[in-house]
Formats: sequence, C-alpha cells, structure tokens
Amino acid sequence: MAPTQDVLYRELDVDPALSWSERDLPERERTKHVHRLHPYLGKFVPQLVEALIDRHLPQAKNVLDPFAGSGTTLVQSLESGRDGTGVDVAAFNCVLMRVKTAEYNLFALEHELRDSLRRLEAFDSVRPPRTNAYIDRWFAPQAAAELVFYRSLIDDYEHADVMRVVLTRAARSARRTTHFDLDFPREPQIGEYWCHKHRKTCRPVERAEHFLRRYALDTLARIREFSRVRARGPEATVLHGDARELDLGGPYDGVVTSPPYPGLIDYHEQHRYAYELLGLQDARKHELGAAERGTSSKAIADYVEGVAGVFANAREALRPRAPVVIVINDRRELYPEVLDRAGLTIETRYRRHVNRRTGRRAGEFFEDVIVAR
Ligand SMILES: C[S@@+](CC[C@H](N)C(=O)[O-])C[C@H]1O[C@@H](n2cnc3c(N)ncnc32)[C@H](O)[C@@H]1O
Repeated sequence: MAPTQDVLYRELDVDPALSWSERDLPERERTKHVHRLHPYLGKFVPQLVEALIDRHLPQAKNVLDPFAGSGTTLVQSLESGRDGTGVDVAAFNCVLMRVKTAEYNLFALEHELRDSLRRLEAFDSVRPPRTNAYIDRWFAPQAAAELVFYRSLIDDYEHADVMRVVLTRAARSARRTTHFDLDFPREPQIGEYWCHKHRKTCRPVERAEHFLRRYALDTLARIREFSRVRARGPEATVLHGDARELDLGGPYDGVVTSPPYPGLIDYHEQHRYAYELLGLQDARKHELGAAERGTSSKAIADYVEGVAGVFANAREALRPRAPVVIVINDRRELYPEVLDRAGLTIETRYRRHVNRRTGRRAGEFFEDVIVAR
C-alpha cells in the first residue's frame, strides 16, 4: 500500500544499507578529500548522499540543496558527474562550499600557499596587532599576532578564499579552549586544565603558526585528491541568502538536503571565530531552527512555516515530479505538515540508524529519509 502523508513514524523500518557501523565506514572514508577542509557540526556523511543520489536521482543531471551547509551534496554531485547548486544563509558556509567545489590550477594554488607560508615564517611580531575584543579574548597574544598577520596576506593572492579557510581552521584550533570543548566553548580557558579527552593535564595553545602551516598543506592535499575523483565538466553554484526568498534558478532534477533540526545547533555561532576574523556578514536572524531560539511552541511554529517556505520556493525551481529527498530526525513529527504546506506529497519514508562516535553524545539516534514530490 502506498504510504500517505500521515504515515506513522514509529512503524518505519531501519534500512541496514544506510546504517553504517564504524567498521563499515571508517573516519577516513567519511572525511575523504575536501569533506575535511574545515570542521562543521551537523553535516551529512558523504556516503549517504552518494547512496541517496543513486537510489532516488539516478537520471539527474543537476541537484539542488537549499540547506547546503558545508556542501556535502555539492561535492558528491560533482563526484558523481552532476552539477550541484547549494544555498545557505550563513556566509562562512558559502565560502567553505566555494573553496571545496571550485576548479583549480593546482600548480598555481601550491605556489601561492607555499609563498604565504614562507612569508609567515619570516614574520616576527614586534608590535601587538590591531584586533578586536573577540580576538583579544579568545587568542593568546602570539596566536592572535600570527593569525592577524596571515590575514593581512590574503588579499595579495588569487586563491584568497582558500587562504581564508586555512586561516579560520587554524583559528578554531588556536582558540583558548579545552581540547574537549571545541564546538561551542563558553569561556576562554586560560592556563592548565584536566583534559578528559587526553586524560592528562593540558594547556591551551599559544601559537597559531604551526596550525596555519599544517592546514595549508592539508588543504592543498585534499583539493588535489578531490581533483582526481571529480568528474570533468560538471560545475557547482553557491547561492548565499535566505532560501525562502532567493531566486534559485533551475530547473533542477531533484533535491537532496538535510534541514536544520529545531533548536539544536546555531549554525552561525559555531563558526563565530570565522565571522570575527574575516569580517563576514552575520545573518543569524534568518537562520531557521537556531538553537538560541529554543523549542517553545512559537519557535516550532516559526520553524514549520520557515522550512515550508524553503521547500515551496525549491519546488518552484524543480522539474515537475522531481524527487525531494530530505534527511531529518523528525521526532516532533513536523514534516507531514511542513511538506503539505510546501505543496509536496510524501512518497516514501524510511529510517536509518546513525552511528554516533563520541562518548559525549551516546545513545541511539535515528534519522529518517523522506522522499516527496
Ligand atoms: C543541517 S545543516 C546542512 C548540512 C549539510 N547537509 C552538510 O552536509 O553540510 C542546515 C543548514 O541550513 C542553513 N540554513 C538555516 N536557515 C536557512 C535559510 N533560511 N536559508 C538557507 N539556509 C539556511 C544553516 O546555515 C545550515 O548550514
């Protein structure tokens, strides 16, 4: 019997083909090539996108992700020989997506990154750099000086966005924080602390130079690795803005996306250091489902309306009957209403078991794959 919009979640079967264990899908596979250019909390595993494209969009020539985040759908679209278009309201996510998906002259990129590292090596901080209150608070003086110096080099290079991503990744690692609280540190950690992760006394870092060097070379290696597996010809387009309102272009052959979950993650805030260092525009007031808005009934109603607005806008950009594949943990059972409002009908829904690796987020966790048209 064909499932209907109100099919009950509790009855869903877990699809073993999409429920990988650590052994099936080790970390190096989940973070292959450009997927590890910069930490991003709340992203897809690329193999899930691969499987969903194969299963539901085998004929698609182009794929849209209206909540594109760190660009997993775009990267996997390119790898599978399709064009990919991604939208995100958070400016840093768009920088990251562009860097992951651009095509490079690898020789020129290597030349520029190595040149920037040579200049960094020659840097000798004599004066405290001009910073802002956030940088003063979250970085030791020497780390701040090195980061601000590297930032001052960026505009000299053609591959400025690649350097921006290297800079922010290094900044994330160089913050005055504990090793076990890198995602959302509340207060700077000054001085030694007992580290639960390493089971010893650790100290917050004081320098950034070694991170800049390490990540510049790692970024180069990852971009090179991706260039070997991406198909020639297909292109990625990154649109920055609120996906409820932007003109999304198209027509697209399908959507693969994972919307924010209500009240779980603040997507701007997780990269706060990037906004502070790069001077990016902060559009958090348009961010749907932000944790800071909580889960009151008003916040949930706003979420439903907002996400429905995104899917209604995306629907306008799709070919008729194109599949919309959504990955979501919908424990509040909001998606039948979200999709109804967007004018989409649920065709299939199934569940996958998510293997959560870290002890700090233990417990069973499931996600649903919803296919609507
Ligand atoms: C669950 S994440 C997507 C992660 C993505 N699947 C990946 O692999 O990186 C949801 C994304 O939706 C974005 N977002 C929230 N509200 C938005 C809006 N109004 N328009 C466009 N994007 C929005 C957030 O910034 C966040 O990056």
